[in-house]
Amino acid sequence: MSEQFYSDARLYDLLFPGGERAVDFYRAEARRQGGSVLELGSGTGRKLIPIAADGHPCVGLELSPDILAEAQRKADVRGVKVEWAQGDMRDFDLGRTFELVIIAANSLLHLQEAGDLVSCFRSVRRHLAPGARFVFDVFNPSVRMLAGADGVRRTREALAFQDPERGNVSVDVAETYDAAAQVTRGTWYFSADSRPDYVVVPLELRSVFPQELPLLLSLGGLRLVERFGDWSRGPLTAEAALQLCVCESA
Ligand SMILES: C[S@@+](CC[C@H](N)C(=O)[O-])C[C@H]1O[C@@H](n2cnc3c(N)ncnc32)[C@H](O)[C@@H]1O
Repeated sequence: MSEQFYSDARLYDLLFPGGERAVDFYRAEARRQGGSVLELGSGTGRKLIPIAADGHPCVGLELSPDILAEAQRKADVRGVKVEWAQGDMRDFDLGRTFELVIIAANSLLHLQEAGDLVSCFRSVRRHLAPGARFVFDVFNPSVRMLAGADGVRRTREALAFQDPERGNVSVDVAETYDAAAQVTRGTWYFSADSRPDYVVVPLELRSVFPQELPLLLSLGGLRLVERFGDWSRGPLTAEAALQLCVCESA
């Protein structure tokens, strides 16, 4: 249900600029591990291109062909070599192992079924070299925020951006939360001054609650060794925005 959201790579990069702290975190993990890095749901290469520029052999696995083409273009512009592969993180076989596997920026939350998450974790495990780590970040669900998803369309001031082709762009979002599925179902509306709602796309994101996460990982043959609540490696608390997880083979 979220493929359409990622069919416009240019819009994606305008909507979510920045993220330097996350990039620094993943670069540090790559440095600590040394060697090769695989990113699943690699997007336009925000994390992987800087990691490859640091000298790590990198592979990016991504579902969307449009996003992959933009990642390739950006890597070429920077003169950085990254191997891009089209594939589904739910089940993949690249025929080799890596020192570090990462899934950044909530990409994992596009897998809605518990079975899909477990299948992804099993695939990750098959791609871990001895001593390798699997590191990912997902948001820490806030029941207050989930309960506030009432289906009403609201402007998200913080997401407004400047598009060199369209001028000022405002972003409205209407979301509901399906508690049985643990999935937030949203519709995102992009409006330029001259053209209201020039893009209207659905986006769905699962919530993974802190107590279920280690169990899902263990079913995939993985062990959670550390979990942080922010990019400074602070503890996971009730108020923490993130679950920043470091795992290894069980
Ligand atoms: C929120 S973006 C994050 C991109 C990138 N990791 C980053 O940090 O900027 C999520 C990405 O995951 C990709 N994705 C969603 N489901 C996927 C799947 N089943 N397998 C591979 N990639 C997927 C989307 O196409 C999108 O590029």
